Amino acid sequence: MSLQKRVRIVEVGPRDGLQNEQSVSTTDKIALIDMLSTAGHSYIESGAFVSPKWVPQMADSGEVFAGITRKAGVTYAALTPNLKGYEAAKAAGATEVAIFGAASEAFSQKNINCSISESLERFAPVLAAAQADGIKVRGYVSCVVGCPYQGKVAPSEVARVAKSLIEMGCYEVSLGDTIGVGTPNTVNAMLDAVLAVVPADKLAVHFHDTYGQALTNIYVALNRGISIIDSAVAGLGGCPYAAGASGNVATEDVVYLLNGLGIEHGIDLTALAKAGWFITGKLGKQPSSKVGLALKAKCTQTST
Ligand code: HMG
Ligand code: MG
Repeated sequence: MSLQKRVRIVEVGPRDGLQNEQSVSTTDKIALIDMLSTAGHSYIESGAFVSPKWVPQMADSGEVFAGITRKAGVTYAALTPNLKGYEAAKAAGATEVAIFGAASEAFSQKNINCSISESLERFAPVLAAAQADGIKVRGYVSCVVGCPYQGKVAPSEVARVAKSLIEMGCYEVSLGDTIGVGTPNTVNAMLDAVLAVVPADKLAVHFHDTYGQALTNIYVALNRGISIIDSAVAGLGGCPYAAGASGNVATEDVVYLLNGLGIEHGIDLTALAKAGWFITGKLGKQPSSKVGLALKAKCTQTST
């Protein structure tokens, strides 16, 4: 099949990335989000209204939303596990919210302290309230290939949860390989099951890069007609409830791939790389992005 002409990138670095980092100030989170919107991002997951006892790193999300310089046309989204989180996200002015379920019972219990079916029950009032308020709701399914607690996850389970989220009113479902274990064969098998019940234009892919397979798996997803890709600047990220899982695929690497494929995305790679250098500088580490590192080396060479 011929590849799509345009892809939408969902930048999850300020949420998925920074939920795993203890030491980032609210000011630096705000600066990062503003650098990302300046780089051309049209969708930035900017925080999470979850229990501060569970994920203290996201406890300042209200202040983050209050501090950003909003750019017209940019969606500033937030994770909301329940109605309490939804109300807080709405009060903070989140443009859009995301509910997050899992295809693995064990992960659902560890991450949101309830079973898969209980989670769907909790999401129902969030969807109802958001619908009444005219706020769009995105859905996540975690552990679409493997689970840190129960191992392999059946593609049929992923399809079942993805279909439920769409039927409940999510406009789109993001398929999360939370621990980055997928390879083209397992990702294709999972997509076979999901695409049988949810059309490609309602699906996004969300690959963590623990085993270095994320870009390859994105190429697989593009070839299956999926054109929404979640990624994190500088490859930040991980999930506090998935030990050993490394960051999301780096947005810089995705943008470089899309440039090579001639697929539009609207993001300025140099400005994006600078945002990556900024936040990794604050974290005292190097970007996990190969492209971010290559551009940094080139920039250092030309300036010496
Ligand atoms: P619980 O303890 O079962 O909830 O946690 P509860 O209703 O019994 O409430 C316990 C306390 O939390 C109460 O406070 C509530 O008020 C408070 P207390 O009375 O003890 O003082 N509370 C809240 N506070 C602020 N905001 C809220 C909220 N809800 C309750 N929204 C709960 C259940 C879902 C709240 C908890 O498990 C939680 O917050 N989990 C979030 C975990 C998380 O954020 N994980 C990372 C994001 S998911 C991810 O990274 C995967 C993804 O990237 C895709 C992928 O990679 O696969 C999306
Ligand atoms: Mg994630």
